[in-house]
Amino acid sequence: MHDSLPITRPEDDIVSEIESQRPRVPVGLVTHEERHRLVEQGFVGLYRWYVKRSQETRNWNPDSSFDWRNYRKDHSPEVSRIIEGFFAVEQYVPDYVTSLLKIVRTSHGRSHFQLRWGSEEEKHADLWHNAVFFGQQRSPEWLDAYMGTLREKEWKLPWEDPLHMLFYTVFQERATQVNYLNLGLVAKGVHTHEAFRNDKDPVLAEACRIIAVDEAAHYNFFLEGARLYLYYFPEKAMEAMVNVLRHFAMPAGDLIPNYNKLAELLHRTTIFGAREHARDVVKVALQQLGAKALRAVEDGLRRSREVPDSDTGAMRRTAIFDSIDFGLVETKVKALFRKIGDFEREHGFADIRATLFRPNPDFLIPDPA
Ligand SMILES: [Fe+2]
Ligand SMILES: [Fe+2]
Repeated sequence: MHDSLPITRPEDDIVSEIESQRPRVPVGLVTHEERHRLVEQGFVGLYRWYVKRSQETRNWNPDSSFDWRNYRKDHSPEVSRIIEGFFAVEQYVPDYVTSLLKIVRTSHGRSHFQLRWGSEEEKHADLWHNAVFFGQQRSPEWLDAYMGTLREKEWKLPWEDPLHMLFYTVFQERATQVNYLNLGLVAKGVHTHEAFRNDKDPVLAEACRIIAVDEAAHYNFFLEGARLYLYYFPEKAMEAMVNVLRHFAMPAGDLIPNYNKLAELLHRTTIFGAREHARDVVKVALQQLGAKALRAVEDGLRRSREVPDSDTGAMRRTAIFDSIDFGLVETKVKALFRKIGDFEREHGFADIRATLFRPNPDFLIPDPA
């Protein structure tokens, strides 16, 4: 059998491999402005794809999509307090939208996405409102008053620049998704913590499932965006990633009354604590961003800065390459542009102007050494 295979000289393989990796544009042609344009085109294309998918697959309603009359009224105090906590965090949606919009308003893709994102987050606020309301462990008057108390305060951005906020939202959306998925396990009756042994509730399970799918979609959007920046502006993006992770806190923790109690409850019942944050949020997101570990990214940044400006870029790149898997980042960015290309061909955009991937030549120049 082997005799019939065509014989390929190793040199041919090497030559074709080198050819396939050759920059498709002359080195230096992708300017700073062009990189920005590529990032923006990526965001616009992703946003268009996202809206269509959102309308087709996640067009649920917080009032009519759930059998609220059959929602349980005898949940454990733990489940009731956790849901009130989720309700509280989602109450700041007007602030989340307005403050984020202000810093991304010049970007078509990012600003329109934030509007769409806001329209999904307001449904989350109303879904948790309904869970508290129909749970009937609090009176409707208590609920109105609590909402009033929460909204007296205004949420402020933890970071003022769009790039830091992009990375913040990657980790925040993933953390929110994990919170809802774990409460979903409680509602399905499969969570192992004994406080939840009598909390099975199909209506709550469906609410958790639907909302967690939304959060996964949000996470994916921000993740794709973060990878665009990592690919075209690696050092700035890595710096933002490190800063955000070093100071990360869930939104509105400083605004919600008795937030420490809620955090302690989430931690104690393993819905969401330090372990879940490290294992299910940071580790997963870093891996999908091509980062080995936070410390490795910090190391790479530090070493790239130690290289004198007059030196070649090769050493800076090597320091960065060591900490981030740019092969993975590039593969994912290429896949994103392919997805955008398919969408644009399907809907006629590509007949007039096609969004095309262009490599970041910084990563294609062979090291002179
Ligand atoms: Fe949400
Ligand atoms: Fe979200």
